[in-house]
Formats: sequence, structure tokens, C-alpha cells
Amino acid sequence: MEKMLYNDRLIDIEDAKLSINDRGYQFGDGIYEVIKVYEGSMFTATEHIDRLYRSADEIRLVIPYTKDVLHKMLYDLVEENELATGHIYLQITRGIAPRNHAFPTDFTEPTLIAYTQVAERPINNLRFGVSAIFVEDIRWLRCDIKSLNLLGNVLAKQQAHEAHCYEAIQHRGEMVTEGSSSNIYGIKDGVLYTHPINNYILNGITRQVVMKCCKEIGLSVVEEAFTKEQALQMDEVFLSSTSSEITPIIKIENTVIKSGEPGIYTRKIQQTFEEKVQQLLLV
Ligand code: PDD
Repeated sequence: MEKMLYNDRLIDIEDAKLSINDRGYQFGDGIYEVIKVYEGSMFTATEHIDRLYRSADEIRLVIPYTKDVLHKMLYDLVEENELATGHIYLQITRGIAPRNHAFPTDFTEPTLIAYTQVAERPINNLRFGVSAIFVEDIRWLRCDIKSLNLLGNVLAKQQAHEAHCYEAIQHRGEMVTEGSSSNIYGIKDGVLYTHPINNYILNGITRQVVMKCCKEIGLSVVEEAFTKEQALQMDEVFLSSTSSEITPIIKIENTVIKSGEPGIYTRKIQQTFEEKVQQLLLV
């Protein structure tokens, strides 16, 4: 029987009962993480856990476990479910209390749930690339918090799906921010451009790995936002996320990016990323 974490206990997933008064359900009052698992090993788990605690701090939610204890709980979940390649979904809400926008005044235990999902790596997308559309970024001003409130992201992604595209590249005014569930990069004349880390985007863990890869391959990075128009004129465009890894974007709206094939730097970043995955599997 597949297990899940319910607070600090591993339970059968079919026994899970969630309250209608959970603040995650009522208000989206909580935070989450998605951690990739390659052949049974969690990738960048420490970074994901650090970001989870940061998100918690930003919404004034106190996680009742140390980072090490939580890490061990996730490790046990992966072991118990014998997950090979896939991901862990983890969320923590402000807990169960009668509906009232303000925080509960009585002590309320946060609700933690985590489960695993088998998911193959997106081999075809990695190899051939995907297409994208532009969508106005209508989200709130704290996109740095990995909050459960994803309506803006959901609506953007749905627009992309309806246009038969993989991702929606969001923009505030003319400036590209990030994808509906990914970070966005452009490469022009041997320089990589990407939106700086601030409240308009999520500090992607895969983005952090991309930054390391760029350093290793000697690719200059400028953390500056670029416009939609500049995006269309890039030599290479790609996106990154936990599940999509480093996915080339070969077409935006009706514009083919350069040759219409994944670019040489994107390939190098993919290779360097792959080495890091393989290193994990050796440990
Ligand atoms: N999404 N930006 C947004 C808005 C995201 O939702 C994500 C990830 C990223 C990339 O972050 P990371 O590299 O840490 O996965 C950027 C996850 C995977 C999701 O919601 O499923």
C-alpha cells in the first residue's frame, strides 16, 4: 500500500482524511515544494527544504520540525514507497480552524502532507524543445513565496495548453518575469539573461543549479529582466524547473527562435546538469 506523510506519521494514502476547515483548503493559506527523485535519491533536497522554511517564515507559519527531521521524514517516505524516478509533493498549511481570515488565535498545529509520484524524465522535451506563448503576469507581488495560491499560474498554464504550447511565459508590462511553473532564460551573443531574484519570481532551485552550470562552463550571466521583444530575438531560450529540468524553448507565439533547434549553450547547460544528476546517483 502506497504511503503518505500526514504530519509526522506515515499512513496509508487511502486512509487520508482532510478537514474542510483546513486553512489550505479554505484560503490557500500554506506553502509547498516539489522535490525530484532520481533512482531513489532526492536531488537538491537541502535547497528545497531551506526554501520551504523561508516561505514559511515569510507567511509567519512555524514548521514544528527541524530541517533535519523533515529531511529524514521525506527520505523515509521515498524508501517506504520504493520510489525510483519521480517526485515528492509536500505542503504545509496553517492548520485547522473555523473559517476566519485572520490567523487562528488558539494554538493550531500546521497540517503537513507529502506523497510521492512516479514520473519519467521528459526525454523528448529535453531533446527537441517545446513551444510557449506570452501571458500577462497577473499574480500577486510575493511570487518569491512558494504559496499554495496558484490561480494566476493555473490560468496562465491553461492558456498555454489551449494554444497547444508547453509553457506560458509571463510578463509584467513588457518585461518577462517567469513561466507559469518555471524560470525563463535567454542567451544572446554568448551571454545568459534571466530575471533577477526578487519578489516577482520564485528563486527556482533548478535556477540555482543553472547558475552553477553557467559558472562551470564559463558562460557569462546577467541577472536582468529582458523584454518580450528581446526574448523573440534571443539566440537561445530555455526554461528550468524541478520536473522540466532544462527544457529548450524553440518557438514563442509564432516566432521560431533562431534555427528552431535547441542551442549550443542550452545543450552545454543540460550536459552539466546531467553530470550533477549522475554524481548524485554515485553517492
Ligand atoms: N514549479 N517558477 C514558478 C512559478 C514555479 O512554479 C516553479 C516550479 C519554478 C521553478 O522552481 P524549481 O526549479 O525550484 O522547481 C519557477 C514546481 C515544480 C511546481 O509547481 O510543480
